[in-house]
This record gives sequence, C-alpha cells and structure tokens, in this order.
Amino acid sequence: MRAAQERLSLVQGDITRQQVDAIVTAANAGLRGGGGVDGAVHSAAGPELLAALRPIGGTPTGTAVITSAFRLEARGVRWVIHAVGPVWHGGARGEAEALAGAYRQSLKLAAEAGAHSVAFPLISAGVYGYPLEQALDIALRTLLAGLEAHPELEARLVLFGEPTYRAAQAAFGRL
Ligand code: AR6
Repeated sequence: MRAAQERLSLVQGDITRQQVDAIVTAANAGLRGGGGVDGAVHSAAGPELLAALRPIGGTPTGTAVITSAFRLEARGVRWVIHAVGPVWHGGARGEAEALAGAYRQSLKLAAEAGAHSVAFPLISAGVYGYPLEQALDIALRTLLAGLEAHPELEARLVLFGEPTYRAAQAAFGRL
C-alpha cells in the first residue's frame, strides 16, 4: 500500500476538467445548485444533476450525498459527491468539525461507491468565507487521515488559481 502522503496530490485548475472517478462539489444544504465550483459542476453535468438532487431534498452542513455524474460521464467521471461545508461565522460555531466532516464523508461515499480516484475543491473557501489557511489545513489533514482509512483511494485537491495553489503547496510542506 502506498502511503497516504503519496496518494494525495495538489493540482491547480478547474475541477470539471479532472479525469477522476468522482468529483466533489461544494454544495449548499438545500442541494439547490449555486455559483462557484457548484455552478461549474452543474453546468458540466447538465440539468439532470439538479433533477437527481431534487428528491433527496437536502443534507446537513458537514455531510455529503452522492449522485451519478450525468454528462460528466463522457469525460470518464462516474459520480458527483455534493459536500456541504460550513459558512464561516468566526470559528466558534463548530466550523472546523463541520468542514472536516464534509471531507471525511465524501471520501467514505467515494470508497463505498467503488471509486479509486476523487477530486476535491477547497470546500467553504469561496462564498462561505472560510479563511484560506485554515481551510487548507483542515482539507489536507482530513484528506490524509481519510486516505489512511481508505487505502484503495487516491485524492486530489484542486486549487482554483495560482495564489491558492501556492498557498496549498506551502501548507502541505508545513504538515
Ligand atoms: N474548480 C475548482 N475550484 C473552483 C472552481 C472550479 N471550477 N470554481 C471555484 N472554485 P465556492 P463554498 C474554488 O464559493 O465557499 C455555491 O453557490 C473557489 O475559488 O464554490 O463552499 C454553493 O451552491 C474556492 O476556493 O464554495 C453554496 O451555496 C472553492 O472552490 C456555496 O457556493 C470553494 O468556493 C458554497 O460555498
């Protein structure tokens, strides 16, 4: 088994262009679609994605649900995992635990579905306002711990834009 550190990679780019079995999106608790990475994932997967979420209705902050990838299947992606990170309220409202939960449950759903590779965005670090360095620290630590628990998985953290990518590399180096 390869060490968890070797099964986690950092990539700069657009998550919808990743060739992986499962893509994670940063959703809202109502699973209603939105902007940011969720908007990009819904555009790429097509309107069937929103239709598949409707009967599910929603999922609490800190959890995730899995669906088919619809039009992303043409690019080899089989599943979309809709993870709900917390809105940042200053850090004393359980944000860290909720954010870790969103990563942890996404990895679990990917493993249960039979995925071998999964790409994550930096959940909560956009509209939801989570401070970048703290969002990175939780993402990297939780993914590494989760990969220990799921030796069949490889994960990729996809950073949108060079400054975020550089910050992620620095944070990875400090772990
Ligand atoms: N690929 C990878 N990362 C991206 C992409 C992309 N195509 N687009 C944006 N990012 P955000 P949140 C980065 O706001 O903070 C939605 O409306 C972005 O730069 O997408 O969890 C949902 O429906 C940032 O680093 O998610 C929710 O209502 C990171 O992805 C709400 O936003 C997350 O930014 C969730 O907010």
